[in-house]
Amino acid sequence: MTKSASLRECLSHPRIAKAIGAHSAISAKLAEESGFDVVWASGLEISALHAVPDANILSMSECLQVAASMAAATRLPVLADCDSGFGNVNNVQHMVRSYESAGIAGVCIEDKQFPKLNSFADGSQELASIADFAARMSAATEARQDDDFVIVARLEAFISGLGLEEALSRAAAYEEAGADALLIHSKKEDAAEVSAFRRGYSGRLPVIAVPTTYHRVSASELEEQGFAMAIYANHALRSSIKAMRETLARISRDGSTHLLEADLAPVKEIFDLQGLPRMLESQERHENRGKEIAEV
Ligand code: SPV
Ligand code: MG
Repeated sequence: MTKSASLRECLSHPRIAKAIGAHSAISAKLAEESGFDVVWASGLEISALHAVPDANILSMSECLQVAASMAAATRLPVLADCDSGFGNVNNVQHMVRSYESAGIAGVCIEDKQFPKLNSFADGSQELASIADFAARMSAATEARQDDDFVIVARLEAFISGLGLEEALSRAAAYEEAGADALLIHSKKEDAAEVSAFRRGYSGRLPVIAVPTTYHRVSASELEEQGFAMAIYANHALRSSIKAMRETLARISRDGSTHLLEADLAPVKEIFDLQGLPRMLESQERHENRGKEIAEV
């Protein structure tokens, strides 16, 4: 099965799929080890990796390069956060072609302006018009080579302070424009807003939730409400920043790493994640094969 078909299956399965945000090949590998179904190539995480704001400061190619390295490192399907599509319909088509040929399983674009700003940041969260975003959806679906390549329409109506009615009418428009799934975003501290959307939406598309601020809701509760996927969008990044801060502070303060050793991943674990044992085995096998050939 292709990764796009597998992402599609995750979205259509009655069991809720769990996606985890990642920002590098190694975090994508850890996602696979931890039992997630999907890797979310998070715009916030990838921007943070470069220490720049999540505001389309990075180019499409910079984001794609990281997402492609994740796809190469894991068997899991990668769903790439493509912000608002890096521009107009022409940019969206180039984006879909580029992401699809890099082995990404699907892309998600949000109905905001370009450049966008992270949904949790104070500042303009102005939406694109319905016509503009429906055009981006239509262009995206036309640009893919494989019909299984997944195109997710992300609704930012709640983020920009608009209500359920706006979110529902946009959902219907994006469905008509060819979206394969909807992502309803919210920055509320409880799930009431996204739950109301899920109840009110009567279309046929799977719906994705991102329980970052409304973290009390569990995946099984979201499943009961009919959500197809939960994206834990930034937790790998947040945990790594906290861990790095604490470790670096201890080394700087103590002038020794002796007491830290037990709290660190051993170098052997890094070698395993890098595939070093497999590389050395393969090297030896091919060198021996070369010698055999030279001897005859
Ligand atoms: C991301 O992970 O970049 C997202 C989700 O778009 S959020 O930052 O929660 O808006
Ligand atoms: Mg993002």
